[in-house]
Amino acid sequence: MANSALTLPYFDLILKQLDQGDAIFEQAFGRHVHWGYWANPDQATYTAKDYGAAAEQMSVEIYSAAQVQDHQTILDVGCGVGGTVASLNERFTNVSLLGLNLDERQLAYAQQTVTARPENTIEFVQGDACALPFADQSVDAVLAVECIFHFPDRKQFLQEALRVLKPGGWLAISDFAPFEMEGWPAFLWQSNPVLPSFYGSFDVTYTLQKYRILSGQVGFGAMQSSIPSKIY
Ligand SMILES: C[S@@+](CC[C@H](N)C(=O)[O-])C[C@H]1O[C@@H](n2cnc3c(N)ncnc32)[C@H](O)[C@@H]1O
Repeated sequence: MANSALTLPYFDLILKQLDQGDAIFEQAFGRHVHWGYWANPDQATYTAKDYGAAAEQMSVEIYSAAQVQDHQTILDVGCGVGGTVASLNERFTNVSLLGLNLDERQLAYAQQTVTARPENTIEFVQGDACALPFADQSVDAVLAVECIFHFPDRKQFLQEALRVLKPGGWLAISDFAPFEMEGWPAFLWQSNPVLPSFYGSFDVTYTLQKYRILSGQVGFGAMQSSIPSKIY
């Protein structure tokens, strides 16, 4: 691991199983490492294949919210093993795709498994979400799919996202946003020895209201949020 500050035991497990050719892990986590979106939850079969398909749909929901189009530069922060970049590469043309991650092992996996279509470019870059190694106003959309709770500072990340976005660009994130009850998520993980030892460092205390305040403080325009009634 390039950065000793990053401790994500669940990725140790996922990368080990992928390395060993575990077919179930391959189907469930070989592309995306996030939860899924089922448009019709009643039809979920909860197989690894079904889970992988729902995880793909989750990425589609998120980059659709960012109004992604052909001929754009799109930055996926905390890009995992490259699944959202792969999906964008398959669906859009003449796009410049950037995937950023702290963990070089995940980037190496992404580089091996995701190949740019001839009209697109893909670059996987090692770096920190809170100090983006990209120029001011250089990207049309910033995505952060289910990773912001690991970042050391949400405000710093939002400031960095705003800095690299072109005027009129979009930031789309997904997070575990609790309802407006303060306190219970902290209680959940502080009293649970298993969660931190498996997920490493994380903070899931950010309500939609906190996001609204923070995005306003940082200087983003009005926040659009969707309550994910169908996300599992
Ligand atoms: C739950 S995974 C999500 C991965 C990917 N977005 C996906 O949906 O498949 C969280 C990701 O955030 C990355 N990450 C954690 N802290 C980071 C940081 N400070 N800067 C960049 N990436 C980070 C992890 O290495 C991991 O790839």
